[in-house]
Amino acid sequence: MKTVVYPGSFDPFTMGHKDILDRALQVFHKVIVAVVTNPSKKCLLTLEERVEVIRESIGENDRIEIESFDGLLINFMNERGVNILVKGLRAVSDFEFELQMALMNRKLDPRIETVFLMTSSEYAFLSSSKVREIASLGGKVEGLISPYAEKMLIEKFKYISDIGQTLEKE
Ligand code: PNS
Repeated sequence: MKTVVYPGSFDPFTMGHKDILDRALQVFHKVIVAVVTNPSKKCLLTLEERVEVIRESIGENDRIEIESFDGLLINFMNERGVNILVKGLRAVSDFEFELQMALMNRKLDPRIETVFLMTSSEYAFLSSSKVREIASLGGKVEGLISPYAEKMLIEKFKYISDIGQTLEKE
């Protein structure tokens, strides 16, 4: 009965994230999706919106918990009594950064193990940053994120554009 943590900024949660989550559920009994409150990079969506998108994308599943955390991931994991974290790998290009994080987390707490799961080749090209970029330029992100997230992004960029126009007029 192993529980694992699947951490990320999820800005927004994509079908690639969903793929990794589904794979994690095939290996582990329970997954805590841990949404970082203040990532090093600035987020497009608020914490509430990021959590809302995840909740809506996964539906009802008592083997999944969604939580947010602030500060060090290892502290959150220790508070929850979980020592395994799951990360998705798309391509070799992800590996260097992920290896650095895994080894640093292990250095901070030797009990922490990182398990890498390979994403489906269907989503190997997919990232939240690409989704944000495409949506900001009015492109179609259908099938890359949930319809709910798509609607949220369209509204968000419309709001940003409206604000910009209002400020320009002032
Ligand atoms: O979605 P991302 O950007 O891959 O998620 C990165 C995340 C949230 C897992 C990472 O930035 C993180 O663990 N942040 C919490 C702060 C922390 O513990 N930093 C030390 C990591 S070595």
